[in-house]
Amino acid sequence: MSNSPVSILGIETSCDETSAAVVADGCHVLSSVVAGQDELHSKFGGVVPEIASRAHIERINPVIAQALDRAGVNPSDLAAIAVSNRPGLIGSLLIGVTAAKTLAWAWDKPLIDIDHVQAHIYAACLDADFPLPFPAVALVVSGGHTSLYFCQGPLDVIELGSTADDAAGEAFDKVAAILKLGYPGGPLIDKLSSRGNPQAVNFPRSWLSKESLGFSFSGIKTSVLYHVRGQNAQAKNVHLDAATKADIAASFQQAVVDVLVGKTMLALKQRSTDRVILGGGVCANTSLRAAIQRACEQAGTQLFLAPVRYCTDNAAMVAGLAYHKLQANQIADLSLTAHT
Ligand code: KG4
Ligand code: ZN
Repeated sequence: MSNSPVSILGIETSCDETSAAVVADGCHVLSSVVAGQDELHSKFGGVVPEIASRAHIERINPVIAQALDRAGVNPSDLAAIAVSNRPGLIGSLLIGVTAAKTLAWAWDKPLIDIDHVQAHIYAACLDADFPLPFPAVALVVSGGHTSLYFCQGPLDVIELGSTADDAAGEAFDKVAAILKLGYPGGPLIDKLSSRGNPQAVNFPRSWLSKESLGFSFSGIKTSVLYHVRGQNAQAKNVHLDAATKADIAASFQQAVVDVLVGKTMLALKQRSTDRVILGGGVCANTSLRAAIQRACEQAGTQLFLAPVRYCTDNAAMVAGLAYHKLQANQIADLSLTAHT
């Protein structure tokens, strides 16, 4: 039997990152190339799907070539080609799916379809020396998703609750727009918050019902809007000094973090589990990482945080999770398509 590593090429184009990566044996990242598009979307304050699809078309081939080159592998070394084909923007997903199907056919490799959200959960074990232990509760918190899951394996994931309206990352982006900070807003609010007082404004925490594992972030965004503009939501030219902006950013961030941590700890209690996994773009947030760490230490819970470099969209998480689908012989065929 050969001991050579099982190297998989992953492709990720579900939103506005064009990414390819090669991962060996499910966790050793040999290369991870991410071409972001922030500069294309920032003037619109959010991702414009048609612009994203066109940029993916231009970038996908060079990004894949770079990923193979940096990993030092040839197509013949690959065990499979994996692609995230759901959920996401349909035009964006189709570029990655088409590239993956073409390469799987041309290089005669197994094709593996990956759920983008499951891949965000899996990111917590990339570059780590251990497999993720299960069962565990997972929180995926990003620009498109805010959901809690109960996981009994990397591929055995049940949703426990989700957001009824905005995702947490979407709220970060919208609040950054209200504060005129720029796009994407999450990292800018994170940075600004370090200079603000998180207790300055008592923004509402949306707990929904006492035992609910659902989320809602549209109310807090509206609260910030009224706080900034007074009762006149149309008043777009309100001037805020730097210290006030920092206080609002820090208070907003604290309210979101309180809810994310509170509901995650509630899910752990409901599921009688003492392991928690966090992934997704907002999991890069300094305050969220510190707060969940504190809460888990107090509760004696094991915490598995995705490394910051694998929180936002990337293909390494896709290639890593694909290893488990390959082991389980869950192979797609060339009729594979994308789902929003
Ligand atoms: O996972 P991701 O790249 O895309 C989706 O699957 O949605 O997440 C992007 C989101 C954006 O909303 C961005 O503002 C947010 O993650 N984000 C952050 C931070 N870094 C990225 N939010 C809060 N703090 C951060 N440091
Ligand atoms: Zn994502």
